[in-house]
Amino acid sequence: MSSAREPRFLLDPYLDWARAEGIPIHEGFGFDLLSVETSPWPRLGAAGALVLLEGRGDFVDCQVLELAPGGQSEPQRHLHEEVVYVLAGRGSTSVAGAGRRDSFEWGVGSLFALPPNARHQHFNTSGREPARLAAVTNLPLLLNTFHDTEFVFANGFEFPDRMGRDGSYRGEGTLIPVRPGRHQWETNFVPDLRSFELQSWESRGVGSSNIKFVLADGTMHAHMSELAVGTYKKAHRHGPDFHIFPVTGHGYSLFWRTGDPEPTRIDWRHGWLYAPPDQVWHQHFNTAVRPSRYLAIAYGSIRYPFTAEKMDLFSNHDPSWTRGGRQIEYEDEDPRIREIFEAELRKHGAESRMPPVPVRA
Ligand SMILES: [Fe+2]
Repeated sequence: MSSAREPRFLLDPYLDWARAEGIPIHEGFGFDLLSVETSPWPRLGAAGALVLLEGRGDFVDCQVLELAPGGQSEPQRHLHEEVVYVLAGRGSTSVAGAGRRDSFEWGVGSLFALPPNARHQHFNTSGREPARLAAVTNLPLLLNTFHDTEFVFANGFEFPDRMGRDGSYRGEGTLIPVRPGRHQWETNFVPDLRSFELQSWESRGVGSSNIKFVLADGTMHAHMSELAVGTYKKAHRHGPDFHIFPVTGHGYSLFWRTGDPEPTRIDWRHGWLYAPPDQVWHQHFNTAVRPSRYLAIAYGSIRYPFTAEKMDLFSNHDPSWTRGGRQIEYEDEDPRIREIFEAELRKHGAESRMPPVPVRA
């Protein structure tokens, strides 16, 4: 029984909303999104689920949407931003607002942004296969700020500057060269991340490459990284909320805090989602005989970092932690890192292309 005098505190309006949506909520370290249970989601007129990762941080969630063969979602409009990655199937999405109207076709590996308050609707254009989308959104930030669903889901404000330009939803974009690890591609839609051209970022790991996306001039962040065949990236750490979606290849990641006797391990391939928790060291290893790519979606973009943590991260990625940075150089690694990697490569019939461990001067 509640009473009018019951003190109201420790409230989480986002979680209250989530529990009232009547769909599965999957909470944990990581999931295979291709197999997580979904159920009919009345708001979207399709099946869905919420995936709330241990490392999701304070501002974002992941919403999984499944469109039946030939099916479609109900038109939606809301104040939160979405960055959508296509896990399975093919279809199209219409986006409209502030005098613009766009429609584009997507398939596995597509990435697109839905600007705040843009009306949008998804269609599965296959009559045989379901389609599954994963959206990382800043709905937790908005609901916990305003704690008013009418304001977030029935708000008439238009954002013309966020709708993109002609071509933004046709896969066109602008390369903004900055420096390794900060090169950017501005667009609203990337048709296929699997074939997108990346830029070298050797200081992150031998053979490493990357691009930072600027999507719909938004505060939602996305980037993609590639690990060359037979290589792994340097360990690093940062704040929470980077939702990692493997895109091509396969491999594993290790997670540990300083002093942990053993790391935690996740084995990944396309379909997986996980998020390194706050300031946990983590390291990604490619065990495939081809390059492995992963997409990361977070809150606080390279254009609008939003938090002091992201501001520092995007300006201060690479230096070694021994010099106040966030990265463990190969010469400072626990020797077991490389032993485990070489054993894993042998299991998968791949060969190491790692250079010899440098000797620290
Ligand atoms: Fe990371």
